[in-house]
Amino acid sequence: MEKEIRALKAEKNAIVMAHNYQPLEIQALADVVGDSLELAVKAKEAEADLIVICGVRFMAETAKILNPERKVVIPVQDAGCPLADYLTPDLIREAKRRHPDAAVVVYVNSTAESKALADVTCTSANAVRVVASLPNETIIFGPDSNLASYVQRELPEKTIIPVPPGGHCYVHTGFTLADVEAARRRGGIVVCHPECRPEVQDQADLIASTGGMVRGAAGAGDEPWSVFTEREMVSRLRVLYPDRVFYEKPEAVCADMKKISLADLKRALEREEHEVVLPWDVMDRARRAIERMIAVGT
Ligand code: 13P
Ligand code: SF4
Repeated sequence: MEKEIRALKAEKNAIVMAHNYQPLEIQALADVVGDSLELAVKAKEAEADLIVICGVRFMAETAKILNPERKVVIPVQDAGCPLADYLTPDLIREAKRRHPDAAVVVYVNSTAESKALADVTCTSANAVRVVASLPNETIIFGPDSNLASYVQRELPEKTIIPVPPGGHCYVHTGFTLADVEAARRRGGIVVCHPECRPEVQDQADLIASTGGMVRGAAGAGDEPWSVFTEREMVSRLRVLYPDRVFYEKPEAVCADMKKISLADLKRALEREEHEVVLPWDVMDRARRAIERMIAVGT
C-alpha cells in the first residue's frame, strides 16, 4: 500500500499534507506534517497539481481558499471538527451588532463562511500576536472560548468577547486538574495546548500549539514532558526525539482525525476525491482574513 501511494503521488504530481494528529502511518507518507498554521502556509505555496489534505475539513478548506486554482481533496468527506461547528455566521453578525467597534478574529477551526466574516483569522500558534496587531480594544473571538481566555490573559489591555461563550474542543477540555496532579506526581514538565481549560492552563509550565510543542521540545532539556493534547502528537514527539520521555493521555483522541486510513489516502490519490468546492465570493472574503493572519506571522 505504501509503495502504491508513493507511486501515485509521483504519477499525479500530488503533495500530501498531514496534521500532527494524523495516524503515524499517514504522517510517514506525507510531504508536509505540521500544525494548522504550517499546513496553511505550505498549502498557499504548493505548486503540485493535486493537494491532498490529511486532517479535518477546515484544514482542506483553508488550503483551497489559499490556493484556489489547484485541486484540493480530503480523503474522507465527513472528517470534521466539532469545535468549528460552534460558530455560525449568524452568531458573528449578532456579536458585531452588539459590539460595532470590535474587530472579528476567527480561529481557523471554523467554517469558510465564518472566516469570510472575519477581519482576520488566527491559529493557536499566533492568536496572541494576531490580536495584539489590531488597533481595536474590543475583540469578538470564536469559536474556542479557552483560546479566548488564553489571549485575554496574555493581553489584559484588550476586551475579548468569546463567541459563543462555551465553544470548546471535547478532546482538550477532557484534561482536568486531576491530570495535572497525576503529571506532577510523575515529575517533569506539563505542556498544554491553549484549547485546554483555563484552570489547566494556569497550572501548566508551557502553553503551545502543536507546532510550538515540536519546536519547544527541540530546545528543551531532558526532563519528561506530560503532553496535554491529542495523543498522536505524543507519538510524533517520540519519533522526532527518540531519547526523550513523553507522557500521553490515552483517552485524548480526536475521532475525526482518525477517520483517514491508508486505503482512503490511496483512493483519494487514484480518484482525486473528495474535492473541496466552495463559492468564489466566500473564498475571496475568507482569503483576505487568512492572508492578513499569515502576514502577522507566528
Ligand atoms: P494546532 O493549530 O495547534 O495544530 O491545533 C489544531 C487543532 O485542531 C487543535 O485541536
Ligand atoms: Fe477539532 Fe478538537 Fe479535533 Fe482539533 S482535536 S480537530 S479542535 S475536535
